[in-house]
Formats: sequence, structure tokens, C-alpha cells
Amino acid sequence: MQLENYIRDIQGFPKEGILFKDITPLLIDPLARKKCLNILLDSLKGQQIDKVVGAESRGFFFGILLAQELNAGFIPVRKPKKLPFKTLSASYDLEYGSASLEIHTDAIQRGDRVLIHDDVLATGGTAKAVCDLVEKLGGEIVQCNFLMELTFLNGREKIKNNPIFAALTY
Ligand code: PRP
Ligand code: MG
Repeated sequence: MQLENYIRDIQGFPKEGILFKDITPLLIDPLARKKCLNILLDSLKGQQIDKVVGAESRGFFFGILLAQELNAGFIPVRKPKKLPFKTLSASYDLEYGSASLEIHTDAIQRGDRVLIHDDVLATGGTAKAVCDLVEKLGGEIVQCNFLMELTFLNGREKIKNNPIFAALTY
């Protein structure tokens, strides 16, 4: 079974000129999903993880599966004004303008060993914002992992201080 066969290319979504990588075929298939999860877990080589931090929204799917397998807490990093408790916010640049992400201030304890997960590493803006939030709360980033890395966008440059793993690269 080849993981890449479960990622569907959608030309022109969400706007013209963009080739969207659709992970829903992977989510729908229990065996492919399990294989993908195992690839991500193997890359950690048994390292202890206290918290898995997943980026809204596509980072939630495998983020929660990883947390369950690792017997770790799961922390959602969300888009603005979605989290109810006290939050910390980090902003990042988009092609036009900027966006921000939030985390609950009590989600991470100083010294927690943290795995950051998202579906795609593209320009790296999202991952960098998540790293900033985790670091501000005193978390120790063990790895940033992704289902896919779009290498031509060079997002890893933005988070180069951390170990990075992607199950697939394009
Ligand atoms: C997409 C994707 C990653 C991010 C990658 O999320 O799921 O989170 O973009 O891009 P970057 O490396 O250039 O920041 P999006 O913001 O579209 O939201 P979604 O996950 O809720 O669909
Ligand atoms: Mg996302």
C-alpha cells in the first residue's frame, strides 16, 4: 500500500492556480490511516511525548490519533476567538495580510515534551506560529511532524531549529 495513493490532487481549489492536496481518501480508509499513523510514530523512535499540539483544523485528525497512541495529552491550537479560556496568540503572514492562532495558556507546562502536528507544511507560517506558542509557554519541541511537506515552498526554513518529519514530500 502506497500512502501517496490516498492523497487526491484537486486542481484549482480553493482558488485558481492552486493544486490542493486532499487527505479525505486517507481519512476514509482505516488501513491507510493506520499505516500513516505508524509512519509518524516510527519517526519518533520511542521518544517520550507529554503533549501533542494540533493545528486547526486539519491538524486535528492525526493529532488526536497520535496523542492516543503516545498516551499524551492533546492540545488544540485554534483560529481566533474559538477557545473559551485564557489564550495566548501568535500571528503569521499570509500571501495577502496576516492570520493568527491561539492556544490556552494552561495547555502546556514548562518543560513539557511536545510534538507539533499538522497535515501540511507549506510556507511554514502556520507551523512557525504553533512553535512560537509552544515555546512561549515553556514547552520543549521534540518534533514537528506533517503528513506532507511541499518542499518547493521551503517552509522548513521557518522552523529549522526543530526536528522536522513528513510522511510524504512533494
Ligand atoms: C492549511 C494546512 C496547514 C497550512 C499550511 O491550513 O492545513 O495547516 O495551511 O500552510 P502554511 O505552511 O503556508 O502555513 P488552513 O489554514 O488552510 O486551514 P484548515 O486546516 O482549517 O483547512
Ligand atoms: Mg491547516
